[in-house]
Amino acid sequence: MMKSKLLLALLACTLLVACDRVDPNSPLGKRQTLFKDMLKTSEDLGGMLRGRLVFNAERFSQGAAHLDDISRQPWQHFPQVRESGDDSQARDEVWQRQERFQQLARELEAATGALHVAAQAKPLQAQALAEPVAKVEAACKACHEEFRIY
Ligand code: HEC
Repeated sequence: MMKSKLLLALLACTLLVACDRVDPNSPLGKRQTLFKDMLKTSEDLGGMLRGRLVFNAERFSQGAAHLDDISRQPWQHFPQVRESGDDSQARDEVWQRQERFQQLARELEAATGALHVAAQAKPLQAQALAEPVAKVEAACKACHEEFRIY
């Protein structure tokens, strides 16, 4: 009796761990990795402008180039049909309103492209970067409001 209870408890733990871990090679795992990198990179850029981090022109332009690169990549990892039983925070609307979703993805890419260009200026002036960074942040937010579950 005791033994089987212990076994059940053990089994429940194993299952929970398995549920929590997203396969990094699955489409969900791949887009989550990209999104996390996008968040870290854009927070560092914003942080340099807001005084949380020291402004470093070299690091800023590298970060802007990297953000522009990875912001083009998550979309290919949203499969044509939603994976069943996933832990995704994507709303069903991603698949129901593909055109709108893709439109907001293109808007983000336009914003990161503009930031990338602005960040190549020499010498790089922090105040000239506030607007392009704000536009990138607004593009992230716009899509999350429509398509992401919080
Ligand atoms: C076109 C829509 C769209 C845009 C633009 C967008 N996101 Fe997202 N984002 C999503 C969706 C949908 C999810 C949920 C993905 C999932 O769990 O399947 C998500 C999830 C995330 C996550 C959570 C990842 C995780 O570990 O679960 C982060 C962080 C994130 N986005 C950051 C950003 C940042 C930063 C930007 C802008 C630089 C951005 N996103 C732009 C749609 C978007």
